[in-house]
Amino acid sequence: MEFTTKTIPVEKTSASRLAQVDFNNLSFGGVFTDHMFICEYKNGAWQDARVIPYGPLSLEPAAKVFHYGQEVFEGMKAYKDAEGKIWLFRPLENQRRLNRSAARLAIPEVPEAIFMEGLKTLLQVDSDWIPTQAGSSLYIRPFIFASGTGFHASPSDAYTFIIACAPSGAYFSGEVSVRIEETYSRAANGGVGYAKAGGNYAGQFYPTKLAQEAGFQQVVWTDDHTHEYIEEAGAMNIFIRIGDTLLTSPTSDRILDGITRKSILTLAEAEGIPTEVRKIKVSELVEASRQGTLLEMFGAGTAAVVSPISSFGYRDQVYTLPKPEKSYAAYIKERITDIQYNRAEDPFGWRYPVGN
Ligand code: PLP
Ligand code: COI
Repeated sequence: MEFTTKTIPVEKTSASRLAQVDFNNLSFGGVFTDHMFICEYKNGAWQDARVIPYGPLSLEPAAKVFHYGQEVFEGMKAYKDAEGKIWLFRPLENQRRLNRSAARLAIPEVPEAIFMEGLKTLLQVDSDWIPTQAGSSLYIRPFIFASGTGFHASPSDAYTFIIACAPSGAYFSGEVSVRIEETYSRAANGGVGYAKAGGNYAGQFYPTKLAQEAGFQQVVWTDDHTHEYIEEAGAMNIFIRIGDTLLTSPTSDRILDGITRKSILTLAEAEGIPTEVRKIKVSELVEASRQGTLLEMFGAGTAAVVSPISSFGYRDQVYTLPKPEKSYAAYIKERITDIQYNRAEDPFGWRYPVGN
């Protein structure tokens, strides 16, 4: 069967929760829209794609996701412009990355048509849930998990693919302070760091909790081998401005190939901001801070958008970032969100119309 927004069956809820939501005080990812897209993999094929009311799932305790963490996910956003039109930002990048993650976790890939048509159908059904308040958007969480049963440590024979959505405000409230981590590692060579596998995040919770107890919000990971080089943060890639140059670490099998990251690199290059994608030593950061040439650090990601970092902790020292008047972070955030919310031209062809 062909998958289109016309052929995907929709079962509408009889009890919308929309009126209960305070759209002026949205947290991040705390309330969920009325519907979800669901599709199941059985007998070697994805089937039964449909939109149904958002609600609890029924799974056996022996479902493999509970035992072996066979799960991958994505994070995307839908935006509503001043005329009420719905837009996505580079959604095919998410679709492809979901499948790269899936392949690494021995999960069957989801065909592009199921992902895109399922997503568009869901957004049309739940379009009233897309916030229009400044800084808010609809956070979209596609995910695939092993729903087949068995205690044998081997891939499941059944999977469930769901897209759920949450009208959301900012991921961080205010500026972010980070701790550069030297004890724990997020990822290792040959591992799953580049995949958006749920377990990558679970493994960060404990070190992040320790960092939070020490007064920081996020951990900046260093390479697992020497702990000398900056990699990325828990939920975002990291940019560093030294002098006029914008630096970020190269992606590898330990780092998530962020869509915001690569969009920022393209944007910065187009705007004449000198960029360097190279390994960055923590000692270089510390030295630049001492010399006064470290002007900015910021995180970049779908949830985080562009989040300025106010300070970083390293080996019991806290280094405070200055606040330059012409901040790259502020400029880039404005440029990128203007494209996302259809407030400006999109010379790169990143915006994707959903259609009502
Ligand atoms: N790094 C990690 C670990 C993330 O979870 C995310 C969020 O998706 C990012 C980076 C940023 O990626 P993107 O810009 O594609 O959202
Ligand atoms: C995103 O930015 O979409 C992410 O997946 C980060 C997440 C851990 C909230």
